[in-house]
Amino acid sequence: MKYIFIALTLLVSLPTLAGDIDIGKAGATVCAGCHGMNGKSVAPGFPSLAGQDLEYLKRQLINFRNKSRTGGQAVIMYGMAEGLSDTDIDNLAAYFSSLQP
Ligand code: HEC
Repeated sequence: MKYIFIALTLLVSLPTLAGDIDIGKAGATVCAGCHGMNGKSVAPGFPSLAGQDLEYLKRQLINFRNKSRTGGQAVIMYGMAEGLSDTDIDNLAAYFSSLQP
């Protein structure tokens, strides 16, 4: 019985650890102006995010948030990333990496 309970707890908690695609989609409306709602860039200079590697996307958002990614147009992303929590980043990365490139 105890083991069934532990297994159920793990099953319920794993998806939240991995980032929630639907919550990420809701949060992605503010990104759509540049990256497109389907993750496909609306103009040159804005990278497409659709189908990019989950861990890569998370790492870039963390790097923009702590301003360690510099050069190019990185400053544009500083303002976008500074208000994001780790959970926001997990959810946004889950959403964009789930899209077809
Ligand atoms: C005003 C336009 C704009 C908005 C809005 C915007 N971005 Fe960006 N984003 C950029 C630009 C420009 C770059 C390229 C930065 C560079 O040159 O390093 C970028 C880069 C990125 C990258 C790195 C992509 C790569 O291929 O390395 C990620 C991830 C990203 N943005 C996520 C987001 C998310 C998530 C949001 C919404 C919370 C968002 N962006 C909102 C303009 C924008």
